[in-house]
Amino acid sequence: MIKKAVLASLLSAIGSTTVVAADELNIYSARHYQTDEQLYGNFTKQTGIKINRIEAKEDELLERVRTEGANSPADIFITVDASRLAKADELGIFQPVKSATLEARIPAHLRADNWFSYSTRARIIVFNPEMVKAEQVQTYEQLAEPALKGQVCTRSGSHPYNLSLGAAMIKHNGAEATEKWASGIVANFARAPKGGDTDQIRAVAAGECGVAIANSYYFARLMNSNKPEDQAVIAKVKAVWPNQATWGTHINVSGAGMLKHAPNKEAAVKFLEYLASDEAQTYFANGNNEWPAVPGVKVDNAALNKLGEFKADTLPIGELAATVAEAQRIYDRAGYR
Ligand SMILES: [Fe+2]
Repeated sequence: MIKKAVLASLLSAIGSTTVVAADELNIYSARHYQTDEQLYGNFTKQTGIKINRIEAKEDELLERVRTEGANSPADIFITVDASRLAKADELGIFQPVKSATLEARIPAHLRADNWFSYSTRARIIVFNPEMVKAEQVQTYEQLAEPALKGQVCTRSGSHPYNLSLGAAMIKHNGAEATEKWASGIVANFARAPKGGDTDQIRAVAAGECGVAIANSYYFARLMNSNKPEDQAVIAKVKAVWPNQATWGTHINVSGAGMLKHAPNKEAAVKFLEYLASDEAQTYFANGNNEWPAVPGVKVDNAALNKLGEFKADTLPIGELAATVAEAQRIYDRAGYR
């Protein structure tokens, strides 16, 4: 760290023109949060490498990388959800990175062949205690039981978050059980899927549904909000860490990888390693109320502190990603759309 700091100050002492021209990094990111300025700014401070960022929707960025082909200026691609990272990987846009730092910092189950996870989020169950009992909603599997008929709300089954959950179900329970489960979820709908995860939490608070599935950061965002209407929602609902007695709560990730035609490979690897540093991990995770992927890094987040610890699924994220296509076929057959 000291060496890097010395180098950075030397570089800036030499003068910026030649150094900056040689040391640039181009990032295509489908993820944007408040803490990004510190996240990227500190990398430039430490390394002297200037970052150019293009932020857009996932599909737009992927299309851009494909159209640009071998001439693409992009070095790094950042996005959320294993299923989206898998989709990008299937398009062949990444190249593998061999880094002892990344192997030491990021747990094996959060690394795929061509990309790395940098934060984790949990897919939690949120329920209305006036409508369902806590013991009825402790597992994903229970949400498909006939006892919850007319109570369940989720966003679309074809959304990546639900497809990744389906992939985890397939890995743990098998394809047949997962198809039965998906049919059970559909049979238990309080309403046809609509809106995002936050809409499901609001619907549970409003009594439109007894129980819903949502990513943890949406729940934490409401908890941390100082808007009275958000606090009113949180006061009406309870959160469950699903499957604590079995395979653990389904975890998904934000992740990044180096692109196949990256013109600034060295800088790209440095950046991927920087993202795994204690400091960057804090910004990256806390910016979206997520948990750092690197063990032992703490974020000071009131909602996450309050939600506490839980048993997370340790299914390798690469295996999960590879099973998403099967989950889509199963959901299609079950009518979970
Ligand atoms: Fe999201």
